[in-house]
Amino acid sequence: MAKTIIVSNRLPISLRHRNGRFEFKPSAGGLATGLGSIYKTGENIWIGWPGNTVDDPEQRAEIILELHELKMAPVFLSKEDVEQFYEGFSNECLWPAFHYFTQYMIYNPEHWEAYVRVNQKFCEAILKRADPDDTIWVHDYQLLLLPQMLREVLPNATIAFFQHIPFPSYEILRMIPWRKQLLEGVCGADLIGFHTYDDMRHFLSAVNRITGLSNESGYLQAENRIINVDSFPMGIDYDKFAKQAKSRKTQNIVKEFKGQMIDQKLIITIDRLDYSKGIPQRLQAFNQLLKDHKELHGKVSMIMIVVPSRDKVQSYKELKEEIDLLVGRMNSDYSTLNWVPVHYFYRSFPFEELSAFYSMSDIALVTPLRDGMNLVCKEFVASKTDQSGVLILSEMAGASKELQDAVLVNPNDQQGVVDAIYEALQMKPAEQKARISSMQESLKKYDIFQWVKVFMDRIEHVKEKQEELTSK
Ligand code: G6P
Repeated sequence: MAKTIIVSNRLPISLRHRNGRFEFKPSAGGLATGLGSIYKTGENIWIGWPGNTVDDPEQRAEIILELHELKMAPVFLSKEDVEQFYEGFSNECLWPAFHYFTQYMIYNPEHWEAYVRVNQKFCEAILKRADPDDTIWVHDYQLLLLPQMLREVLPNATIAFFQHIPFPSYEILRMIPWRKQLLEGVCGADLIGFHTYDDMRHFLSAVNRITGLSNESGYLQAENRIINVDSFPMGIDYDKFAKQAKSRKTQNIVKEFKGQMIDQKLIITIDRLDYSKGIPQRLQAFNQLLKDHKELHGKVSMIMIVVPSRDKVQSYKELKEEIDLLVGRMNSDYSTLNWVPVHYFYRSFPFEELSAFYSMSDIALVTPLRDGMNLVCKEFVASKTDQSGVLILSEMAGASKELQDAVLVNPNDQQGVVDAIYEALQMKPAEQKARISSMQESLKKYDIFQWVKVFMDRIEHVKEKQEELTSK
């Protein structure tokens, strides 16, 4: 029987060194949960990088065995691969380009060569396990070349690709010297998915201008196949967040945390450390609010969680410095003995505590300068089981297309963000309830499991269409 192979740069676990040994930490991310029903079934498998370098052949063999039990197979990356493919081409060329931060783009031919080489490594790892009519679902910008590499060896396989980050307009994409190879690489797939309609349009327009393939109602006509391109906005595991927020454990944590912040309105912000998230701009808006509204001093604080990420990449190091400085300045300007405006945490938190932060916060301030989807805003809404709270959301996040009942802001408009926070602080409970419950309705319906189902159904549909065409 044909099987399904999931492929992503990172496996849904990470490998950590501890006392000379390795241990696995499972990822609690939404994608891992959503795809659980797939890769854990039958002969299916998830292939990817375990997130650390392992050079010792004996240790590698051990890891392979242990991962096998978890229905996963590793692609080992060397130190050089990590520097040139992951930190280099993926995160110093593609990531900034696709998020419109062209000032951070580095065009390094060695990084490009490493990108080709590592995509090939992934291809070989898959070919060791794939049968000719398997379904292979490739995820994200680190593996744009992989669909075509697979297609060349497995012409009849069903290959799908989903991009989790934005797809930029043609004008930005064409700044990358290797844009044609990248587009041809993705076009090896039968189905190509994006979070939003706009990303999909940008992709289709770039494909048309760079490769000449033309699109008819979401289908590209390649030489001897059709390629379906569409948008599939990703959801979260809604029930998991709603259930956790109601749990006794989380509510006890809320009581404990709240006890330390009496009579204060709380604004929650949670992000990976990334310049695309607009963290300094958000701090500046909060600073402006405190400057303009002295009456809010002592009455509102921000809980800012920044999860460490890509800390070897220069632009991320600089961002960390900038945030540290801004928070330090704000807190030294405004703090009193019993009030600190910004509670800043540079680390991740266990799920129950995250859930408590969502549950106890009055406002979630989610203001990325550019974001493919953004799941934090969805997690906040799902966690507000009493339908209180206000979501302030950037128009630049893919999620804003669905969550129209949020207070939408342009993150570059500082005064607009200040006004939105002020409005949110005054919003009547009835309006909060109306907005939150309407967003909850749609998030409940289009959760991560629905997203996986719709995508997998579409793969099947495209394949049937493909077969119809070839049998004519
Ligand atoms: C984004 C990307 C993912 C990536 C994740 C964490 O969500 O879409 O592909 O895995 O960030 O980044 P990292 O560089 O740590 O894998």
